[in-house]
Amino acid sequence: MRRLGLIGFSGSGKSSLADFASKNGFKAVDTDALIKVKSPEAFRLLENGMEEEFRTLETSVISGVLKSDFDFAAFGGGVHYAHPAWKEIYESSLKLVWLRGSFGNLAGRFEDRPLCRMSGIEGYEKLFMARQELYEKAAAFVVDTDGRSLSEIWSEIEEIWSSLFR
Ligand code: S3P
Repeated sequence: MRRLGLIGFSGSGKSSLADFASKNGFKAVDTDALIKVKSPEAFRLLENGMEEEFRTLETSVISGVLKSDFDFAAFGGGVHYAHPAWKEIYESSLKLVWLRGSFGNLAGRFEDRPLCRMSGIEGYEKLFMARQELYEKAAAFVVDTDGRSLSEIWSEIEEIWSSLFR
């Protein structure tokens, strides 16, 4: 199947790159946006310490997405090797691209995220550190984002697409 998933920490540009993909004629979906449509209050679960419930909802959205027709999927920052949906993602043979950025460079783009508000910047940095190896294990490709514009990053993603599918 010809499709790629975008993973990475909050602020790494997953949703913006899915927009880029749409503008370039690809069919792109954004699981956070779909979660909001399905359950507008879903992100409050995270603020209320109900992460497990949020992940269950996220897993059901991901499950639906994996059965649908798309070229690119942008996932939330919690999607990695240890996510409850991982097995299904793996078995769907969706190839994941990790948008890798340093915490310092992503800072400023994620302060409004519920888990950041809950844990504070130090707690969020610990989460960032803990997730690096989980993204790495999950990803088939790594694209570095530090110091690069979205269009430069998009060009590299298009190259990955072409190397796999054209
Ligand atoms: C989350 C990241 C968010 C969103 C939710 C949980 C996380 O997506 O899915 O708030 O666990 O890191 P972004 O990566 O778009 O911020």
